[in-house]
Amino acid sequence: MKRLASLFFIVPCIFLSACGNLYSIGSTNINASNSDDSKVKTKILRLAFAQTESHPQYIVMQEFSDNFKEATNGKYEIRLFPNETLGSQREAFEQCQTGIINLAIVSNTYTGSVSDYYKAFDMPFIFNNVSESINFIRTNPVMDEVKSSVEPYGIKIAEYLTAGVRSMYTHKPIHTVADMKGMKIRTMESDIYIKMMNLFKASASPMSMGELYTAMQSGVVDGAENNEVTYVNSKHYEVAPFWSQTDHLIVPDWLIVNKETYDNFTPEEKIIFDEECMKAADRVNELWGKEVDSLMASLPDTISVTSDVDIQSFKDAVQPLYDELTSKNSEIKKVYDAILESQ
Ligand code: GCU
Repeated sequence: MKRLASLFFIVPCIFLSACGNLYSIGSTNINASNSDDSKVKTKILRLAFAQTESHPQYIVMQEFSDNFKEATNGKYEIRLFPNETLGSQREAFEQCQTGIINLAIVSNTYTGSVSDYYKAFDMPFIFNNVSESINFIRTNPVMDEVKSSVEPYGIKIAEYLTAGVRSMYTHKPIHTVADMKGMKIRTMESDIYIKMMNLFKASASPMSMGELYTAMQSGVVDGAENNEVTYVNSKHYEVAPFWSQTDHLIVPDWLIVNKETYDNFTPEEKIIFDEECMKAADRVNELWGKEVDSLMASLPDTISVTSDVDIQSFKDAVQPLYDELTSKNSEIKKVYDAILESQ
């Protein structure tokens, strides 16, 4: 049903793009007076988002949209499409590359599908905590090279956005990696996660976020892994009531912008856009920090939280992965080494 609904959005978007039109045009009256001169053609920039309207990234993107509109005197309006309305994250990533849409929030997995540098962030236990990852992404010199590596593919990294720390949720508690044996776990669509699950002795079932609730409900998969915000906001706890704090991944999301859209901004607009993006990233961090504990506390009593997981058993299981990935790929190795050096 969701796929069908997304077609109704995608088809007109493809039409707009085929007409060489990166924007939809509306009209905004920016002054109190009603003279024709006061009418500014508003360019609508479409932003695809995979999750719900209560997600901190969505809330912040709304603020971002308001701020950018105001700062450009109504020249741009960023219109948000949540809940995979424009398609899965993979589809949104591809639409942003070709300019069918202008902006998207996507997981690192998708930037990693065009540039190997990003794959270093998909490795389990690579950062010790979220602040360490934010600090690395914001300040490490290697990040200039990492960010610009996606530009030949039609997109620009506008900002990283926190996506917290990921843990397992299933239909039974997990205390040690041995409890994963034989379980079928949904992962994002990346080879690294498939390898990781195999090393945990579970089997990976890659699929988009939009398909996951039903897959868990119908038993197609035994569970998934994600951050607390998604577990609660997307109501995954209803169908996977055992949360186990494995803390195995700290993977950033990226706010991406179609390169042509960005290049078409005037120098002043680029400055405003960049500043607003940076403010938005800070706001997501702030909201995220506030929300995680209260969201988990809001869960019904029927949900079981296992905090005393033997995390070392998970770390030991994935040791072969680091060598395998870094010995074969100089781009992954470059970022991996920079992360280790920064710790
Ligand atoms: C996180 C992340 C999303 C991603 C999702 C997933 O929630 O923020 O960008 O889509 O995980 O597992 O697919």
